[in-house]
Amino acid sequence: MIRKLALSALTALTLGSAPALAAGEGGHVEDFAFSFEGPFGTYDRAQLQRGLQVYTEVCSACHGLNLVTFRALTDETGPGLDPDVMRAYASTMQVEDAATGEYRAAGGPDHFPPSAMETAPDLSLMAKARAGFHGPYGLGINQLIHGMGGAEYIASFLLGFTGEETEQGGAIFYENTAFGGNVSMPPQLEEGLVTYSDGTEATPEQMAQDVAAFLMWSAEPHMTQRKMWGFVGVIFLTLLASLLYLTNKRLWAPIKDAAKHS
Ligand code: HEC
Repeated sequence: MIRKLALSALTALTLGSAPALAAGEGGHVEDFAFSFEGPFGTYDRAQLQRGLQVYTEVCSACHGLNLVTFRALTDETGPGLDPDVMRAYASTMQVEDAATGEYRAAGGPDHFPPSAMETAPDLSLMAKARAGFHGPYGLGINQLIHGMGGAEYIASFLLGFTGEETEQGGAIFYENTAFGGNVSMPPQLEEGLVTYSDGTEATPEQMAQDVAAFLMWSAEPHMTQRKMWGFVGVIFLTLLASLLYLTNKRLWAPIKDAAKHS
């Protein structure tokens, strides 16, 4: 029985870690190495800050981030902005006051504005809404190791424009390999589009991964805590299982003994 179990666990593990990087819906998704992958992965604070900059300077022209509060930007396991920096940043954004209905400068407790462009989806949860990889037949081990691939999908999407354009009913569509077809969002990233204050070179690949990491954080701000508690849970269950096993042995020992001598 134990052998059988061990065998199937082993097969699950080896099957799971095989490179089964099926893409979203027919598109091609690249497997970027993000710092937050794996059971012990954490967010790279500097990368999240760069990603916030890309979102602010590029994406926010069309996309909202309406489920995220400005205050969350101070999270220690997230972008970790200094509270003063966060408040200064928030004050550059205009939000609609819930009480007066008037527009005013945002503060810490406010949410980022919704999408400025009606057809551009809100990006708060986008990294969880899209999957780059799928575990082989639902075992999920691949996703345990690589994550769901939502960030990979976003980065691949931003880098996946082929330059082909088609016109349909007066609107222009752009071919995108990650999307697996034509999309109405025009290509955004080009060399040096933003200037990073930490001196990182702003290549399209860099910006795509930075903003994808930032959007992973916006969709799952408590990933680090979740992983830690998961780890504590595994240790606890391992200890509990060993104790139960020993207790079981001890409880049945006299009876087994008696059976042997009868
Ligand atoms: C000029 C406006 C505009 C800008 C700027 C823009 N987007 Fe978009 N984006 C759109 C529109 C419109 C769509 C909807 C496309 C569709 O479904 O055809 C979209 C869709 C998306 C999607 C969803 C794709 C899917 O799988 O459905 C993602 C992810 C995305 N944008 C990310 C970004 C990021 C990250 C940035 C900043 C680097 C950005 N966008 C900048 C207009 C924009």
